[in-house]
Amino acid sequence: MPNNKPRLLVARIFPQDVMDRAARDYDCIVNSEDANWSGADVIARAGEVDAILTSARTKYPAEVIQGLPANVRMLATFSVGYEHIDLDAAKARGLVVSNTPDVLTEAVADITILLLLAASRRAREAFEMITGDNWLKIGGWKPTQFLGTGAQGKVLGILGMGRIGRAAAARARAMGMTIHYHNRSRLTPDLEQGAVYHDTPQSLLKVSQFLSIHCESTPETRHLINTDGIALMPEGAIIVNTARGDIIDDDALIPALESGRIAAAGLDVFAGEPDVDKRYFMTKNAFILPHIGSATVETRNAMGFRALDNLDAFFRGEEPVDRLA
Ligand code: DGY
Repeated sequence: MPNNKPRLLVARIFPQDVMDRAARDYDCIVNSEDANWSGADVIARAGEVDAILTSARTKYPAEVIQGLPANVRMLATFSVGYEHIDLDAAKARGLVVSNTPDVLTEAVADITILLLLAASRRAREAFEMITGDNWLKIGGWKPTQFLGTGAQGKVLGILGMGRIGRAAAARARAMGMTIHYHNRSRLTPDLEQGAVYHDTPQSLLKVSQFLSIHCESTPETRHLINTDGIALMPEGAIIVNTARGDIIDDDALIPALESGRIAAAGLDVFAGEPDVDKRYFMTKNAFILPHIGSATVETRNAMGFRALDNLDAFFRGEEPVDRLA
């Protein structure tokens, strides 16, 4: 019997349930070593596939999109972010592109709060002290040990009030924080939920005792948090980033952390990751994680299923719900 399944290049190992569904519905070529394929690696393996299921670790600039064989008709990325794909080049080439919004909103909002609390309550220093077996040596509990910054009653500035920013705001409100935000456009009152709108990032920075970054990485947002931006923030502010690393200028943030001008940072994303600026390893008021914002079984399955839903729609001749190009 002829095999009429569409052919799919599965460019990473995704969670097992996702792999099983892909194998059921597609004729798959799998990156069985889970290697970090470059664009050239993908091109070399795409000669006989109709579509590619990729992650954000592989970059698709114009030259890679143009280099894809003509048989490749769709690129589905297992990520909400799509700055790794040149959408204009995809449109020009007639390549359909989709992403996976919505399904990771709650998981990333959870990690935002984890980072906010870990940074403000000095969790890294406390954890390193106790796991270094130093608690007994320093005489145990003291009234002045690891004094952090309370969140209740403080202003949390949200830079980028999309789905994830709003979900983080809802959690922070429950902790007694007051929400201010900057977004490209002001939200309707039902979405604002009483949050105070600032029409420039600079105006937001001035009031943000805590700042949480949720905007996209674009040429406009690159290094938005730089020396000038940090200088606007209240003394001892706390910065959280679960969006993209390049929104922060590390050469501005790290000295500000060292001097205490910024009391602490909670970071899940880094410029040039996974090659993290090594100064963060020595900066004890930086609580850092390796980009695990969406890393729950439920969320990663949902991301994979969403990517496959988009591919399925395309091969049924329908519009993928998350079509970007
Ligand atoms: C996303 O979905 O964009 C996450 O950051 C993983 O790349």
